[in-house]
Amino acid sequence: MRAVVTGCAGFIGSSLTDRLLAEGWGVLGIDSFEGYYARDIKEANLLEARRHPAFSLVEGDLIELASSDGAMRAGGSLREIVGSADHIYHLAAQPGVRGSWGRSFETYVRNNVLATQLLLECAKDAGIASFVCASSSSVYGDTATLPMDETAECRPFSPYGVTKLASEHLARLYARNFGLPTVSLRFFTVYGPRQRPDMAFNRFIRAALEDLPIEVFGDGSQTRDFTFVSDIVDGIVAAPAAPPGSVLNLGGGSRVTLSEALEVLGTVMGREIRVQLSAAQAGDVKDTWAAVARAREAIGFQPKVDLASGLAAEYEWLRTTL
Ligand code: NAD
Ligand code: UGA
Repeated sequence: MRAVVTGCAGFIGSSLTDRLLAEGWGVLGIDSFEGYYARDIKEANLLEARRHPAFSLVEGDLIELASSDGAMRAGGSLREIVGSADHIYHLAAQPGVRGSWGRSFETYVRNNVLATQLLLECAKDAGIASFVCASSSSVYGDTATLPMDETAECRPFSPYGVTKLASEHLARLYARNFGLPTVSLRFFTVYGPRQRPDMAFNRFIRAALEDLPIEVFGDGSQTRDFTFVSDIVDGIVAAPAAPPGSVLNLGGGSRVTLSEALEVLGTVMGREIRVQLSAAQAGDVKDTWAAVARAREAIGFQPKVDLASGLAAEYEWLRTTL
């Protein structure tokens, strides 16, 4: 069985790749090594996979791969790559909520909407068994009620959320029109080893290790349903069992305020965390909280890792790699 993983050098994509390889899959990874954060970090994410005989990497941009002639490239065109796969896991994207304003929106449209549409075009007649798409809690915006369930109206609060909702809609309409077995998974703030350097816990742990104050946006009363990366990978691997065209939340079941999360982090790190409050950021929602009943029913999803254990794993990773 062969899987194609787009965004294989990123935080979640590399974690998924390692899991699939460990389970005996052949994995063809695609990544453009976008400059959103350092290439060295992505190379480190891929170290284990690169040593595995069942892993191959196509370094390239999905949009360029879609338009290039396969005969010109050793790895083949995107259509050929997709045609060789049983399952596609589409994780490549431009992530980050707060950076999606202004001119950078163009990159979000390109990597989240256009790249997804081209990949779906290549997959629609390829006879693949499943096409799993990474969506986001950011598609909801600030919902009227909590927890957020998949029937809630989606009104994104950031330009990033708009592009993730567009890509999710694209996946669903390829399922409806062409019978492509897509599943979109709405991840809720993922953390753990390999977390992106722009994300909260990675920034907080690095600052605390250097005895610097951490910067909290707003007053710390915002809540997040933090989800440990291995729980997300469990959900992604199980996703092909969901009905075609599904949309499922994958959340951690450990919703806390940011201030509470910082207390847990202080205990885990065995040191006082100094906090500096700064302005709330445009695009940040106040609360997230995943209803996971639908994912439990469809794919047996059950998050297992609590916040203290998950933060200990991320701390250990950063302490030993910095
Ligand atoms: P990441 O930036 O670590 O990984 C994304 C990877 O995609 C990067 O390595 C990048 O180089 C690659 N990429 C981007 N555009 C590409 C293109 N056009 N062609 C080929 N490769 C391309 O991000 P992540 O945190 O691992 O996120 C993975 C997915 O999960 C994304 O779709 C993101 O929107 C989604 N998501 C993440 C979170 C989270 O908390 N990390 C939460 C919700 C949703
Ligand atoms: C995360 C990811 O970055 C998005 O790619 C993803 O789509 C989103 O989760 C999601 O769940 O859909 P976010 O919740 O903003 O977005 O995750 P963090 O960057 O870890 O931030 C968590 C909280 O900490 C936010 O309230 C943020 O404002 C706050 N924060 C972040 C700070 O107070 N200080 C920082 O330095 C960074």
